[in-house]
Amino acid sequence: MYELNGKVAIVTGAGRHSGLGEGMARRLANEGCSVVIADLGHTEGEFFPAHGVATTDEMEEVAQAMRDDTGAQVRTIACDVRDEAQVENMVATTVAELGRLDVLVNNAGIGYLMQLIVDTPVAEWDAVLDVNLKGTFLCTKFAARHMIDQGEGGRIINIASQAAKSGFPYASAYTSSKHGIIGFTRSAALELGSHGITVNAICPNHVTTGLGAWQNEHFSKILGLTLDDYLDGMKSRIPMGRTGQPDDIGNACAWLASDEAGYITGEALNVSGGEEYH
Ligand SMILES: NC(=O)c1ccc[n+]([C@@H]2O[C@H](COP(=O)([O-])OP(=O)(O)OC[C@H]3O[C@@H](n4cnc5c(N)ncnc54)[C@H](O)[C@@H]3O)[C@@H](O)[C@H]2O)c1
Repeated sequence: MYELNGKVAIVTGAGRHSGLGEGMARRLANEGCSVVIADLGHTEGEFFPAHGVATTDEMEEVAQAMRDDTGAQVRTIACDVRDEAQVENMVATTVAELGRLDVLVNNAGIGYLMQLIVDTPVAEWDAVLDVNLKGTFLCTKFAARHMIDQGEGGRIINIASQAAKSGFPYASAYTSSKHGIIGFTRSAALELGSHGITVNAICPNHVTTGLGAWQNEHFSKILGLTLDDYLDGMKSRIPMGRTGQPDDIGNACAWLASDEAGYITGEALNVSGGEEYH
């Protein structure tokens, strides 16, 4: 529908079954894009519990299912978005093996280190800011360098959140990182517009993914609600009457990646079923 044949996209944090990243990568592949599924690839480390990140095995399963279903060229690259050398290598490998780079989706994020400010260790604050915000900066830095050299414009799509526009208790590091992504998006749009590169953010509300399900259980317990009551309260605030699905975000991503969205930059688009943000 959007004529993305021949284009090449990197989607970070796309290596998990039923994640937002998988939904966006799959939609881009359906549009004819070749896709790089980039993700951490291991679960070792204090801040990366097994439920939180993709292993290389899961990344390859996600990629193979996408190849089988779409026929697109799909490659996996293990990359910690906090590490400048790994990010530089991810972009260089993409260009060397797939020939070009047209679309970067900064989706990698962690949303499971959530405590009251008075209880938050500095190391947890740093971990959230490093993945969500520094990772977005680093991937943009190297992707934009290549897009500028390529001379054919480009698309950078940053996955922010409702938490980029509203405050949430227990989530000061997460909300700060996501608010920061909007500021970064606006600045990058100003710097890169003259090269034909658009930079936009998508702000989903609750999307049912592995992370989303973990957050529901976590917050319903903290608030002393049953999971059903917690979910009912969430849905009652959404005019469209349901929470988000990865496809909803995939649709917005494909449109922002297309020529049709070529005059849209520096925006932070809510994809929220009408749920109002502050
Ligand atoms: N699910 C929601 O309700 C929701 C709502 C708004 C925004 N978001 C954002 O959408 C994005 C995807 O979330 P999701 O719900 O699909 O969760 P998810 O946990 O499935 O996806 C996050 C991905 O980031 C990867 N990742 C973590 N640390 C990394 C690192 N250092 N380097 C590279 N990759 C790393 C994980 O392995 C995982 O694949 C996140 O940025 C999240 O903040 C999610």
